[in-house]
Amino acid sequence: MSYLADLAVVTDPKEQALDTTWWKDAIFYQIYPRSFSDSNGDGVGDLGGVRDRLGYLELLGVDAIWLSPVMKSPMADHGYDVSDPRAIDPLFGDLDVMDALIEEAHGRDIKVTMDLVPNHTSDQHPWFAAALASAPGSPERARYIFRDGSGPDGSQPPNNWPSIFGGPAWTRVDSADGSPGQWYLHIFAQEQPDLNWDNAEVVEDLTTTLRFWLDRGIDGFRIDVAHGMAKPAELLDMNLEGNALMKNDDDDPRFDNDAVHEIHRGIRKVMDEYPGTTTIGEIWVQDNARFGDYIRPDELHLGFNFRLAEADFDAAAIRDAVTNSLDAVERVDGTPTWALSNHDIAREVTRYGGGDRGTQRARAMILLELALPGTVFVYNGAELGLPNVDLPDDVLQDPVWERSGHAERGRDGCRVPVPWEGTEPPFGFSSSTRTWLPMPPEWASRTVEAQLEDVDSMLSLYRAAIELRALRPEFSGTEVDWYGSPPGCLAFRRRGGLICALNATDVPIPLPPGELLMASAPLVDGQLPADAAAWLV
Ligand code: GLC
Repeated sequence: MSYLADLAVVTDPKEQALDTTWWKDAIFYQIYPRSFSDSNGDGVGDLGGVRDRLGYLELLGVDAIWLSPVMKSPMADHGYDVSDPRAIDPLFGDLDVMDALIEEAHGRDIKVTMDLVPNHTSDQHPWFAAALASAPGSPERARYIFRDGSGPDGSQPPNNWPSIFGGPAWTRVDSADGSPGQWYLHIFAQEQPDLNWDNAEVVEDLTTTLRFWLDRGIDGFRIDVAHGMAKPAELLDMNLEGNALMKNDDDDPRFDNDAVHEIHRGIRKVMDEYPGTTTIGEIWVQDNARFGDYIRPDELHLGFNFRLAEADFDAAAIRDAVTNSLDAVERVDGTPTWALSNHDIAREVTRYGGGDRGTQRARAMILLELALPGTVFVYNGAELGLPNVDLPDDVLQDPVWERSGHAERGRDGCRVPVPWEGTEPPFGFSSSTRTWLPMPPEWASRTVEAQLEDVDSMLSLYRAAIELRALRPEFSGTEVDWYGSPPGCLAFRRRGGLICALNATDVPIPLPPGELLMASAPLVDGQLPADAAAWLV
């Protein structure tokens, strides 16, 4: 028997057990690496910190982690400006730490997915340096979106597009002789030049990046600005008018162009060479049919869906968000996804009114979310009930703050480091008290340590709910059947038999018939209190 034949009969037991659809009901835990755990005492979280905390993630019961970008980056947008997509930034570690993290996470049955940022690069990417050093019309410039300015001397931007972060979306560069030259497009910060997705080298380079990480054992990618990568040439000649200037809105023609689907089909071809991997697109698209178009068998596996996160704590609004989310993927036989927050939006406790009330509502919403069929995304710190932090001006770091001329405070408030243990900042997050954003002293009661011991804590609620969801057969079936419920309330049933009821009124309401499995707050005379949810079977 030849050596090759020998290999063919020895099947790897891991491969035999390969589950290619694990992502269809997975709980993804989003790690914002700067803010999760710092292993080297520089006040910024890193991959060593993630390794150190894998035991916690196992205890929490999540199936996968999604790492916000850890690639080499000058950090103008905290890693969403990548200067080398196939290297780890030294702030976070190196490839060895990443490899070890992947191996150890897999040892605990936790998948590892990472953010990819294909819409733009950093202005420090070698390609952009080469573009600046090259003449207009050169192949180096063709990888980005360079245009001559408008007006008699080209001193005006090519069109009136604003950047999503504030200010214009175009920046002018110097020509070789030092005179003012062309303009380049950056939908986000000036340090994030948009790539030209009509360029073959751009497409090929992403393929190389996908293979680079997949070959190291990565289980999938979250794709940043997945709905915005294509910018057809005719669009670039247009000025935007009126409400088209609204950010990331369906009315903004810079997003959700039909041409983007071709890009995703290319990505999917590579992913399909690696069975059991997945892609999650960031898709800020409200229109259900257009959202569903991304989740086709030959495009993305999952779409990050903001509908629930955008709903107020109001029964009708929540029910609409659920119905629309299901509707968006039904036609394409896709998997619905649910999220209450991420690193770009205010934390749910704060959105629901803050304080005890905001916390009670966030507790109710996590039960609602975990009762639904599909994939759930939990943003680090949500399981501790962290609120947004009102930070002083002089510590704000999000480019939105500067670019908006201080009109918008930006996203730092939802990115404050996670408190682990102890009674004062930095709460075990770091050995340094100089954390990249200051941590509020009152978070002493919200540390992981404090909450693990407390059966009534948010963390205990998450752990218990995640465990029940994994174990109980009642959480099966992809259909959601709505029950009649009192005004201001909602109730639905999974085909497996689970019933979820939510009370968004100010008074207790009777529960639907069934045996109580768990509730987000103690019942009052056998009734579901205000701002609470319950599971029954
Ligand atoms: C996405 C990211 C956000 C980032 C932006 C630009 O929206 O979630 O954090 O600033 O893309 O990359």
